[in-house]
Amino acid sequence: MRVLLVRWRQYQVVLSVAGGRRPCMFCEALNTLLYTKQAGRIESLVCSYRIKTHKSTYIRPTNLLFHPRLSPHTPRMSDNNDQKPEEWDRVLEDEFYQPDEDAIAFFKKETGITDSLELKQHVIRVQKEAFSIFPYPCIRVFGFTWMKFAHLPAYELVLQLGRERKEPLFLDLGCCLGNDLRKLVQDGYPIQYVIASDLRQELWDLGHKLFRSTQETYPARFISGDVFDSSFLAVEPPMPTSSASDLPPVPDLSSINSLNALRGRVSAIYIGAFFHLFSEEKQHFIAKLLAGLLSPEPGSIIAGVQGGAAQKGFWKPTAGTTGFKMFCHSPESWSELWHDVFTEGKGGDGGIEVHGRLRKEIGGDDYFKTYPGNTDPYYVLEWYVVRK
Ligand SMILES: C[S@@+](CC[C@H](N)C(=O)[O-])C[C@H]1O[C@@H](n2cnc3c(N)ncnc32)[C@H](O)[C@@H]1O
Repeated sequence: MRVLLVRWRQYQVVLSVAGGRRPCMFCEALNTLLYTKQAGRIESLVCSYRIKTHKSTYIRPTNLLFHPRLSPHTPRMSDNNDQKPEEWDRVLEDEFYQPDEDAIAFFKKETGITDSLELKQHVIRVQKEAFSIFPYPCIRVFGFTWMKFAHLPAYELVLQLGRERKEPLFLDLGCCLGNDLRKLVQDGYPIQYVIASDLRQELWDLGHKLFRSTQETYPARFISGDVFDSSFLAVEPPMPTSSASDLPPVPDLSSINSLNALRGRVSAIYIGAFFHLFSEEKQHFIAKLLAGLLSPEPGSIIAGVQGGAAQKGFWKPTAGTTGFKMFCHSPESWSELWHDVFTEGKGGDGGIEVHGRLRKEIGGDDYFKTYPGNTDPYYVLEWYVVRK
């Protein structure tokens, strides 16, 4: 038996390896990784999940840390790029820290740090930690300082819901460090109705470090979970548009541990830089998940931004040389998708309007040196869906 210490995504994994057992799917992923990265074939890997399941004791794999909600067999990343794309694992460069005036004002107010240089050093320190959790380009390029949500056309509509609607639940799905929802709260949204959610609790916790708060001093409700875990979020048919009088009361947020408890109760959802992590089929599936959460009241809104294209299809910024690809919708195909979701494929408009526009992303054709030599620039689709 050999014992291996490997780093797999954000996990430090200690594995015992022996022959004679068929590895489970998760082990096979590790096997592939190790097979390609190391000389020599590994016969079999056994992870702690399998050990627990099969009550085997002859191998002690040991110390395999999982997110509590995440099944070890759930793919953790884009199924376009089912392992962390190598392009994303690049050196960090402080020069990419270029917040505009609004962002600086937001960060100063939120952190209490008034000196710009001290703020920069603080943000860079936290960015390094976040990048070691998972190397998303948006972390490397300081995308969390860009106020992406606040620049969307839907932003003012969401703030208006926060002012005018009774119990206006707001959800930021895939919130990462929580910067977008914090901006919304700073601009007046009632924090008691704000729900943050992400696969990775560590990123939310790091958000507290970034903004110098604690869960007590910043009581937005955070619920960790994987959107592909139906015990956390299951597909439910979208509710037909109706008035508030038909609705049950919103649940006590402190008592819920999954988004399933919020079916038809969320007034506004923001989902940034998320859809493009997944295949076309999964993007459609995620849209169905969100539609089931949306309140039936007219004016309820889902807004987001992600990689987009003039024609739907894969964006391959390395011209296919590394296999990296991202599935991007066009404004038209994105609109069709939402109408399909809200009508459950029956045709018609589903009682919604869909607005979308393409914008060339900053960072140059190589997108902050992420895709050297790329000549097919990165576009983003800024969009919202609103109930009529
Ligand atoms: C690219 S980051 C975007 C963060 C932020 N929304 C933004 O716009 O900058 C994607 C976020 O989605 C989270 N995420 C990825 N897969 C997820 C899943 N299956 N379920 C829930 N969250 C997921 C990641 O942990 C990460 O925080």
